[in-house]
Amino acid sequence: MKKVFQVAMIIAIAALVISVAVPVQAEDAAALYKTKCAACHGADGKASKAGSTMGAKDFQSPEIAKKTDAQLIETTTKGKGKMPPFENKLTADQIKDLVKFIRTLK
Ligand code: HEC
Repeated sequence: MKKVFQVAMIIAIAALVISVAVPVQAEDAAALYKTKCAACHGADGKASKAGSTMGAKDFQSPEIAKKTDAQLIETTTKGKGKMPPFENKLTADQIKDLVKFIRTLK
């Protein structure tokens, strides 16, 4: 009986950790986006004035929706045109989260 209780506790704790961890990760990406990307790409991903002058496109456009995650990760990592590379400023995981976040912008 004690074992059953222990297993139940482990499941309960795991569920709690997962439910807490997922929103925190999304929030991290949102915060990173705000500090590192929004100046050019705009809070809603539609590109700020400065960003569009440099050639940044609307993240909500079908053109970006068509690109694969790998392509967007590559651009964020290595940079492209006036877009600075982030490979030395962000981890691969942070960049992956940011690309996921970009797709949720409305
Ligand atoms: C200094 C301004 C600037 C900042 C800061 C910036 N970007 Fe960009 N970004 C650009 C420009 C300009 C382009 C368009 C590059 C091109 O196609 O010539 C671009 C393009 C992109 C693209 C590719 C879209 C496409 O057309 O394929 C992605 C993805 C992207 N940026 C993500 C990010 C993320 C994530 C951040 C923050 C970590 C960020 N950018 C920060 C200016 C910026």
